[in-house]
Amino acid sequence: MALARLIYVSRMTEECDMESLHKILTVSRRNNLARGITGVLFYDPKFFLQCLEGPVEVVNELYANILLDGRHTRVTLLEYHDTDRRLFGSWAMAFLRLNELTPDMMAQAGCSGRFDPFSLGSEEARNFLVAIVGQRQAQLESQKEK
Ligand SMILES: Cc1cc2nc3c(=O)[nH]c(=O)nc-3n(C[C@H](O)[C@H](O)[C@H](O)COP(=O)(O)O)c2cc1C
Repeated sequence: MALARLIYVSRMTEECDMESLHKILTVSRRNNLARGITGVLFYDPKFFLQCLEGPVEVVNELYANILLDGRHTRVTLLEYHDTDRRLFGSWAMAFLRLNELTPDMMAQAGCSGRFDPFSLGSEEARNFLVAIVGQRQAQLESQKEK
């Protein structure tokens, strides 16, 4: 089956409080599990950086919904690629926050200094997500679906 990997960055709106964030995660994990979507959502108090991977049509449809979601704005596509390999296949949606990462971990993931995810290229964004998920592997174990 043709798979797509999509990575975008966005800025949270004031509409998105902690309760909304909790809801996003709960709904995402439920929907994604049912639809064959896997991925990671990285959150800093201002931004989201998310990777979605799954069947092309399902990813496209989900992204169209995400674009319309009022809890974030400036949704900016960083990567859209077909692939035969999932990078985050164990998680319906792994969740990571910036404050879980030390400056050293950020530097090892290719981001030193002030973090501006809007300035990332597609490869940088992908490598960054792979690196931080790798660094937090033990903590993310409990979020695995399979
Ligand atoms: C940053 C962000 C990430 C999201 N990620 C997902 C996701 O991975 N899966 C999902 O189903 N919805 C996600 N959503 C929510 C969708 O925009 C939409 O509200 C949801 O898919 C609607 O689900 P429902 O039809 O079950 O109500 C996300 C929203 C935001 C703001």
